Amino acid sequence: METLTTTSLQVRDNQLWILDQQALPQQKIWHPAHTVDELIDHIHTLRVRGAPLIGLSASLLLALLAEQGQEKQQLEAAWQLLRQARPTAVNLMNNLGRMRHALDRDDYVHALRIEALRLVDEDRRLCDAIAGHGARLVKPGSRLLTHCNTGGLATAGVGTAIGVIRVAHQQGNVRQVWVGETRPLLQGGRLTAWEMGELGIPYRLVTDSMAASLMAAGEVDAVWVGADRIAANGDVANKIGTYSLAVLAHYHQLPFYVAAPHTTHDADCPDGASIPIEQRAGSEVTGVAGSFGSCRWAPPGAKVYNPAFDVTPAALVTGWVFDTGVVSQAQVAAGILRRPLSGLR
Ligand code: MRU
Repeated sequence: METLTTTSLQVRDNQLWILDQQALPQQKIWHPAHTVDELIDHIHTLRVRGAPLIGLSASLLLALLAEQGQEKQQLEAAWQLLRQARPTAVNLMNNLGRMRHALDRDDYVHALRIEALRLVDEDRRLCDAIAGHGARLVKPGSRLLTHCNTGGLATAGVGTAIGVIRVAHQQGNVRQVWVGETRPLLQGGRLTAWEMGELGIPYRLVTDSMAASLMAAGEVDAVWVGADRIAANGDVANKIGTYSLAVLAHYHQLPFYVAAPHTTHDADCPDGASIPIEQRAGSEVTGVAGSFGSCRWAPPGAKVYNPAFDVTPAALVTGWVFDTGVVSQAQVAAGILRRPLSGLR
């Protein structure tokens, strides 16, 4: 396969490499993801993370394994394992669904390569389209609050919610971004803060619990987040803490936008209650660990509840910004998300 580079993925010498998103921003470490076990470990540990990126990395690895001569049976087993690597973000299942069609063909080595490269290229274009649609909703002088990380690190392109913020900033309409740190794994405090700095977008980092008082003080004009799965009724699964922000935005009468590619939409999933929510290790909550060091503060034996995502009911979403355009409450009520969205090809 030809050399390929995104912010956090590389294909070189016919091998996949991933930028360690757990080590950022303290260290920029590229790890090999040459085998299914290696990639799944990177996904479990969130070295590879973000809904679109998980699907793209799995698709690229499958194509590379085929090129390296793995038998069809081995590729089918790899496909199965990769599909189960993380349960909530549907991009993984959607992308691998496309790869499955390629795998079923006689010329599967060629077809897998073409499909994986097409997915990466499409994701870049989906991000651009989302950013274009979303930026039109950002009013001049906006102070935007975002959660988790939805930028170039999490996609092959400019990102989803961060892509919108980036283009709106280029258009001169962003006064400041409030970056929620996103406990427990600090995707906001580490990754979004880093991306804002790289992009030269003025930002201030806040802990998740500061959002309410910021809104009450009139310091936030809109909330922009990404998504891991959007159900047929418009309910949105995204990083834990998103639902709290939606409730707060509703109370303070602020717009709450969800930006995502159509590959995050799941027409077969009726509602948020049907979205599988990943539960993660308690050690992420009893302390912190990373390239900045580690520390445990909870008493020995402390019991933990640690869902990685929550579900925001459709009623709290002002608009769903897809690559296909902005979907309104009225369109969702009329059932637009009950069938697949026809995205860019
Ligand atoms: O657990 P993570 O870091 O993979 O969670 C990521 C999110 O929740 C993002 O908001 C979502 O995947 C969209 S990324 C464009």
